Amino acid sequence: MTPTFVYGTAWKKDATTQLVQTAVKAGFNAIDTANQPKHYSEWLVGVALEALAREGISRDSLFLQTKFTPLDGHDDRVPYDPQADLKSQVRQSFERSLLQLKTDHVDSYLLHGPYSYPGLGDSDWEVWGAIEELYRSGKTGMIGVSNVNYLQLSALIERAAIKPMVVQNRCYASRGWDREVREICVENGIMYQGFSLLTANAPILHHPTIKSMAKNLGVDTMQVVFRFAIQVGMVPLTGTTNEQHMREDLGMYRIMLSDDEVSFIESIAG
Ligand SMILES: NC(=O)c1ccc[n+]([C@@H]2O[C@H](COP(=O)([O-])OP(=O)(O)OC[C@H]3O[C@@H](n4cnc5c(N)ncnc54)[C@H](OP(=O)(O)O)[C@@H]3O)[C@@H](O)[C@H]2O)c1
Repeated sequence: MTPTFVYGTAWKKDATTQLVQTAVKAGFNAIDTANQPKHYSEWLVGVALEALAREGISRDSLFLQTKFTPLDGHDDRVPYDPQADLKSQVRQSFERSLLQLKTDHVDSYLLHGPYSYPGLGDSDWEVWGAIEELYRSGKTGMIGVSNVNYLQLSALIERAAIKPMVVQNRCYASRGWDREVREICVENGIMYQGFSLLTANAPILHHPTIKSMAKNLGVDTMQVVFRFAIQVGMVPLTGTTNEQHMREDLGMYRIMLSDDEVSFIESIAG
């Protein structure tokens, strides 16, 4: 199953289980998490999946994505042996994700962010090699990378034995909605997931023209942004903690922006 809209579970803490169940029942069929206790409660996503399965919504009817987080992205709750070599860290983190998510496979596994900047370094290649191994093992349907720039993504596409299939980036209108990275994704058949579409773009949500588009369509500016994302080929994430907002956000499936409206939103800098 290819997702078109993803429910993100960052910062939900103890509410994670309830919110994942609510999101799935509201209509979301794709869940994003990470084995990064500092920001995500991956084990509580697993509890939600188990509860949903008991109610007849099977794990396999959902697209499940998690991430390997490098050491500098953790607090003291590192979910692998920090002294181990990087390949072992990836394997340990992945096995723990499967345990926490109470599943034997995920649909997508991401490197949370490269170690080096602006290009890729030895650590990135070593970790990507371990992620490729996981893909070969059949325990993840797709592999990808998050928080990646054009240079890093181009290098991966050029040199990796198995190219990334997913990119997950923060998407700022003021930076052309990550146009360069989105373009290289289209050229290479990579799924581009955009996050913080709302939190990174407050000026867009208050822009008079976007407000009038929303009014004409009978929705809020948030749904215009999500619909725009879909129409330019992104897979958006929403991180709402509110059931009413979940339903509103899913309402973007019922609207359609004209080509001119899409071009206008694409061209404005927040
Ligand atoms: N790879 C990474 O490094 C990374 C980093 C950050 C995030 N992410 C992923 O992206 C997901 C989403 O990130 P995000 O939380 O920044 O996303 P977001 O959807 O841009 O922001 C969520 C905020 O928007 C509000 N909101 C959503 N729908 C709304 C509506 N219909 N009406 C009013 N307010 C609405 C939410 O408030 P309410 O809760 O009140 O609805 C919340 O404050 C995360 O959960 C995570 O899975 C990944």
